[in-house]
Amino acid sequence: MDASDSKAIEESARIIRRGGLIAFPTETVYGLGADTENPLAVAGIFEVKARPRIDPLIVHVSDRDMAERYGVFHGRSYSLMEKFWPGPLTLVVRKKQPVPSIVTAGLETVAIRIPAHPAALNLIRASRCGIAAPSANPFGYVSPTEARHVVEQLSGKVHGILDGGPCAIGLESTILTLTGDTPCILRPGGISIEELESVLGHVDIQSGVSRIPQAPGQLDRHYATLTPLDIAGEGLEEIKPNEKVGLLCLNSPVSTESFQAVEILSSSGSLREAAANLFSALRRLDRMNLDRIIARPVPQEGLGVAIMDRLRRCSVRGISGN
Ligand code: TXA
Ligand code: MG
Repeated sequence: MDASDSKAIEESARIIRRGGLIAFPTETVYGLGADTENPLAVAGIFEVKARPRIDPLIVHVSDRDMAERYGVFHGRSYSLMEKFWPGPLTLVVRKKQPVPSIVTAGLETVAIRIPAHPAALNLIRASRCGIAAPSANPFGYVSPTEARHVVEQLSGKVHGILDGGPCAIGLESTILTLTGDTPCILRPGGISIEELESVLGHVDIQSGVSRIPQAPGQLDRHYATLTPLDIAGEGLEEIKPNEKVGLLCLNSPVSTESFQAVEILSSSGSLREAAANLFSALRRLDRMNLDRIIARPVPQEGLGVAIMDRLRRCSVRGISGN
């Protein structure tokens, strides 16, 4: 369905209100949405994604009033909303009663954001409820940044897919929790640490790759290709004879002879452009029957932090179930 067609939005909203699942575009990645307040519908999301019930969802809202229906906001959260919403910032705050516990995986907190894609906003408004949505991919795999990525992996399992073109940001939202004394980044993403610090002064960053205390270690391998991926410079660069290897790099590599395929994320070296291209490039490499992908590190500044986070999670080996 064409996400710019108001009839498609109306039809999708009817499906959401009746408890169905709609994949929809946001500025970050495509989401798989259900009515936040319908626990049965939300259960469908976990089934379709094969997502463990301990992994809570983000509630997508269209305005602050709706945000306040679901979460408790204080002083500093208003400055963040003012500056970054609509946009790729998810705030974790204390939850309110209308949020069923399946959405928050039993936590007393809820993750909320206003997405900056007109189709997402129109869908939420027409549905007249918050839309609980994870990324629209099987659990653990690379997130979809185009409608056809969703079609390839979830068609037949959802009740509709809205096509709003490629996602402008291409990386998931930054998740910031405001439940402790100091705001803490649980997942780097589309809003950089520098941007957050311009409003908050200082933010903590949750160290290590596991970010759900209830599920230690379980989410280490994530955003992952089926093809093993190594980050260059970690002693894994040597290519064996006959090994088919693909290279993922920010801009022009020095030499490409030893590689079967090369993906350049941004010829001008722009981290913003690289972020927007990252997941499509990983999917292309993953389809080439390579033995391995080698990713060159990108600078750890701006969106580079989130890019490196995704590459690191993709490079974790050997955790079953993901
Ligand atoms: O950009 C995005 O954030 C995309 C689009 C669709 O909005 N969504 C997305 O959702 O990436 P998902 O489910 O793939 O990742 C959401 C993550 C969960 O894995 C969970 O770790 C975290 O948000 N989360 C949700 N609720 C939380 C809570 N109450 N406390 C801590 N983390 C939470
Ligand atoms: Mg996801």
